Amino acid sequence: MHHKTQVGIVGAGPAGLMLGHLLHLNGIDSVIVENRSREYVIDRVRAGVLEQGTVDLLHAMGVGARLRQEGLRHDGVFISFLEQRHHINFGELTGGKAITVYGQNEVVKDLIEARIATSRPLYFEADHVSVDALDSSSPVIRFRHGDVDHELQCDVIAGCDGFHGVCRPSVPAGVLTMYERVYPFGWLGILAEAAPSCDELVYTLHERGFALFSMRSPTITRLYLQVPPDEPIERWSDEAIWQEMLTRMATRDGWKPSVGRIVQKSVTPMRSFVATPMRYGRLFLAGDAAHIVPPTGAKGLNLAASDVLVLARALKAFYENGQTEWLDTYSDVCLRRVWKAQRFSWWMTSTLHRAPDESAFDHQRQIADLDYLTSSRAAMTSLAEQYVGLPAEVSFESAGL
Ligand code: APR
Ligand code: PHB
Repeated sequence: MHHKTQVGIVGAGPAGLMLGHLLHLNGIDSVIVENRSREYVIDRVRAGVLEQGTVDLLHAMGVGARLRQEGLRHDGVFISFLEQRHHINFGELTGGKAITVYGQNEVVKDLIEARIATSRPLYFEADHVSVDALDSSSPVIRFRHGDVDHELQCDVIAGCDGFHGVCRPSVPAGVLTMYERVYPFGWLGILAEAAPSCDELVYTLHERGFALFSMRSPTITRLYLQVPPDEPIERWSDEAIWQEMLTRMATRDGWKPSVGRIVQKSVTPMRSFVATPMRYGRLFLAGDAAHIVPPTGAKGLNLAASDVLVLARALKAFYENGQTEWLDTYSDVCLRRVWKAQRFSWWMTSTLHRAPDESAFDHQRQIADLDYLTSSRAAMTSLAEQYVGLPAEVSFESAGL
C-alpha cells in the first residue's frame, strides 16, 4: 500500500504523540508509526515529573484535563544527607513555579486518546519499520501492519523512536557526532501500594548510596535505590528492598517511607548521551532518539516536549510560507537547552551517587556540595530554576498555540 503524508512520525512515545498533536492544531497532516501495542505503550512504567513549562504546554495543547485533576503539584523538594532532610522551596525561589508528578504513561494515555479523537492515522504494532531517502525531498517510511506492507511518502520524517529506535542508526556513518557517558550504577525502582509518607520528593545521598522517594498517586509510592548497573532483579527479595530503602532513607526526625506491597520492580542502567546534529536531510530527531539523560534530574520527558515544540514551530513556518530557516536552526536551538539539562542531570547524578572508584576526598566533597546547596539561597535558587525547568527556547505562540 502506497500513501502520502506531510510529516511521518516514527514512535508513539511522548515526543511523537505531542508532535502529532501540535501539527494537528496547525492543520498539518501526519501519520504515526509505532512498533509496540497500545497496551504496552500505556502500561510501560516510566518517570513522572513534569516541569512547569511541560504542564503549561500540555494545557495549551488542550490535553491537560486529567492532568489538572490527577496531577500532584509539588512546590518544592527535599535533599537528604547525613540523615537530615533539607527543604528547597521552588515557589519562593522561582516566583511561584512548581513541578507536577504525573506518570509518563498517563501523559501517553491522554495523548493517544487525543490522537484518536482527531481521526488521524496512528499505527500500533507496525513491524519492520525502516526509513529511507532521507536526503531527498520525499523521504519514505516503510513498515508492515497486519498482512499489509506500507510505503509512506513524506515531506519530512520526525524520528521520535527513542534511544533504541531505527531513525538515528539510519543516518549515514560519519554524519553524527555522539557524546556519551555511562555511569557505573543503575536504579532499582519499585511501585508500592503505600500512601506517600511525605508530600514532596526526597533525594538522598547515604553512605550506602543514592535513594529516591517519589510517588504516583495518594495511594502509590515510587522508590528508587542505587545498585550496580547490571544487577539482576532476582537478587532482591521484597524484604531486602524494604530493608535497604529504610536504611538509606530514614532520617533523624523520624521520617521514613511507608511500607506496602510491591507491585512492580525493575533495574535500569543510567547514561548521558547526545547525538548532534539532531537532523540529517529531511529527518529530524526528537526526544530520546537524539539524547538521553540519567533520571536523577527527571528531565527526559521534559526535553522531549521542548524538542517537539521547536520542531512544530519550524514545520508551521515551513508549511505556511515555505520558510526553511527554522528547520535549519532546529538542532542548534534544541541543543542549547539539551546541553543545559545534560549538565544538570550529570551534576545531580554525580553529587548524589557513590561511585565505585571514588576516594574518601570525593565523598567529603559531595557532602560539602550538598551542605552548600542546602544552606545558600543562591545555590538553592540555581537548583530550583533548573528543576522546575529552564525557559523554552521558543514561544508557544510561534508554534501556533
Ligand atoms: N519503529 C516504531 N516505533 C519505535 C521503534 C521502531 N523501530 N523503536 C522504538 N519505537 C517506539 C517505542 O516503542 C516508543 O513507544 O518509539 C517510542 C519512543 O518513545 P520513548 O522511548 O518514550 O521516547 P520519547 O518519546 O523521546 O520520550 C522521552 O521517554 O524514555 C523516556 O525518560 C525518557 O521521559 C523520556 C521520554
Ligand atoms: C519518578 O517519580 O519516577 C521520578 C522522580 C524523580 C526523578 C526520577 C524519577 O528524578
